[in-house]
Amino acid sequence: AAAEKGGFASFMDKEIHDQPQAVGDTLLARTDERGQIVLDDLRIDESVLRSVDKIIVVACGTAAYAGHVAKYAIEHWCRIPVEVELAHEFRYRDPIIDAQTLVVAISQSGETMDTLMAVRHAREQGAKVIAIVNTHGSTIPRESDAVLYTHAGPEVAVASTKAFLSQITAAYILGLYLAQLRGNKYPDEVAEVFDELRLMPARIQEILDGAEHVREVARSMSEASSVLFLGRHVGFPVALEGALKLKELAYIHAEGFAAGELKHGPIALIDEGQPVIVIVPSPRGRDSLHSKVVSNIQEIRARGARTIVVAEAGDDDVLPYADEVFWVPQSPVLLAPLLTTVPLQIFACELATSKGLDVDQPRNLAKSVTVE
Ligand code: G6P
Repeated sequence: AAAEKGGFASFMDKEIHDQPQAVGDTLLARTDERGQIVLDDLRIDESVLRSVDKIIVVACGTAAYAGHVAKYAIEHWCRIPVEVELAHEFRYRDPIIDAQTLVVAISQSGETMDTLMAVRHAREQGAKVIAIVNTHGSTIPRESDAVLYTHAGPEVAVASTKAFLSQITAAYILGLYLAQLRGNKYPDEVAEVFDELRLMPARIQEILDGAEHVREVARSMSEASSVLFLGRHVGFPVALEGALKLKELAYIHAEGFAAGELKHGPIALIDEGQPVIVIVPSPRGRDSLHSKVVSNIQEIRARGARTIVVAEAGDDDVLPYADEVFWVPQSPVLLAPLLTTVPLQIFACELATSKGLDVDQPRNLAKSVTVE
């Protein structure tokens, strides 16, 4: 087993370090010589994909957070409304689906029963289903109309890491493909985003190489009983995923919030020493979200919070209010989750390890939940 872990202390640690490769492999062979996206494995008629008027992403757990990231990218690039729904809620609320609905089912294992049942329900109602799945030959792709495989390789640790980044990558590819097909984006725009995507593995590697500070901070927090996560825009699902990782691995109460909600409730939780991890949007993004989140950090710091900030390299605005900073390389705003997630994975893994917990096999959890 030691050899299988490639010299790492756990499968989870190994899989976190596999991420540059997992993302890179998921991007392989998706474009032609003109830089246009070709999805050979997408067996749905192009005319059907052109007429889609709504996308519903169904998934569970970490895969559902990949769906939340997908919503921001696909709506922005394709101007198609995207809903994200937990698979086990979707089926029971009598969802509005028809032949113009595209359902995207995201699953690492391809065997999650709740997600499979959602796929069946969607197809019975006449929707087309594309599966974004990591495990070849699994049930969900077999029962879907088409599949876009992530190429993360086998994921052994129960808590998902490299599959998550690969799912987000696959969702970007799907979004770019639809934008190209439906004429929302010019060919050179698609090629430009794709070129940025190809730079992401090296940026992830930079974070892995400079993660010692993240680990130090994690070890200093082994006594924490509650950690809050705040994010906005694509940083919101990253906050949810960061909180989920901490619950799963370290058994610490953790909650992710949209930073804009702070004043509508969560700020009441802030008192002396409360750790809060804030994912700060790029200062190069639009809509002044950056300055709003920096104000949030200032507000919670003034109320005694210990602020741990995930920020883009060069963003000195956070320095006056941050107790700790986890830096990530610069990237286009919509692609940032491929980076900002990584320090949070390392943080949860290291904190749990410092508590003496088994990060590969957390209590009560299964890698794949094949019952409803
Ligand atoms: C289980 C795992 C999670 C995973 C979820 C969905 O709960 O513990 O890590 O995110 O199932 O699994 P799937 O295989 O469908 O992505």
